[in-house]
Amino acid sequence: MMIDTHCHLDVSDYENVEEIISHMEGNYMIASGCNLETNKRVIELINKYDNIFGTIGVHPTEIGEDIEENLKFIKDNITNPKIVGIGEIGLDYHYDDTDKELQKKYFIEQIKIAKEFNKTLVIHSRDAVCDTYDILDKYIESNKVTLHCYGYDKGWASKFKKFNMKFGIGGVLTFKNAKKLVEVVNTINLEDMLLETDSPYLTPEPFRGKPNEPYNIIYVAKKIAEIKNVSTEKVLEITTKNAIEHFDLDI
Ligand code: NI
Repeated sequence: MMIDTHCHLDVSDYENVEEIISHMEGNYMIASGCNLETNKRVIELINKYDNIFGTIGVHPTEIGEDIEENLKFIKDNITNPKIVGIGEIGLDYHYDDTDKELQKKYFIEQIKIAKEFNKTLVIHSRDAVCDTYDILDKYIESNKVTLHCYGYDKGWASKFKKFNMKFGIGGVLTFKNAKKLVEVVNTINLEDMLLETDSPYLTPEPFRGKPNEPYNIIYVAKKIAEIKNVSTEKVLEITTKNAIEHFDLDI
């Protein structure tokens, strides 16, 4: 069994999303919301498909005028038993016009919701490692935390391990220039990892350039197996167990 712990299954991204989902029969997905529209879509998906769970949240680059309405939607739906986390939330300082203070404010606000309802956090963090670490250090007590699509180095990975942390490993690992991530995978244990695709983005080799889909986590698992010198079955077995525990999945 495989679990894609982070994917986006928005209708507009795929010609036939039903078919994409059917490829995962017997496996599970966690669909992630980023804004009001996609959070609503996540609720539709978890109501429709037994093998889809969801997380809802406001992505740092999606903080807009509807932020209060969005936070209300999150609070209204967070107790749905198939909503297994808050995300994706976090910090993204990649673009020059970033309002860092605004991002930090709503990152912290959503961490507080996660704490209130004891939900796992799914964090997007790009070019913002110090602030991400400092905020987790200050605000997180016992919540489980995922750094989705982990992109920092192995030194930071060992620092982040002090939190109740799993690292989301995706298609980037299969890219030719993935040296830093290969080092991370070499350093951390299989018990620290979750498989994810971030579909429709970050398609692994050999399909790079085409839209990604949840089934492609098998290629990530194979690459991890190669690096760790274990069988792909072993990688799937341990990462599946990690995902079930980390998100309290009722499987
Ligand atoms: Ni994502």
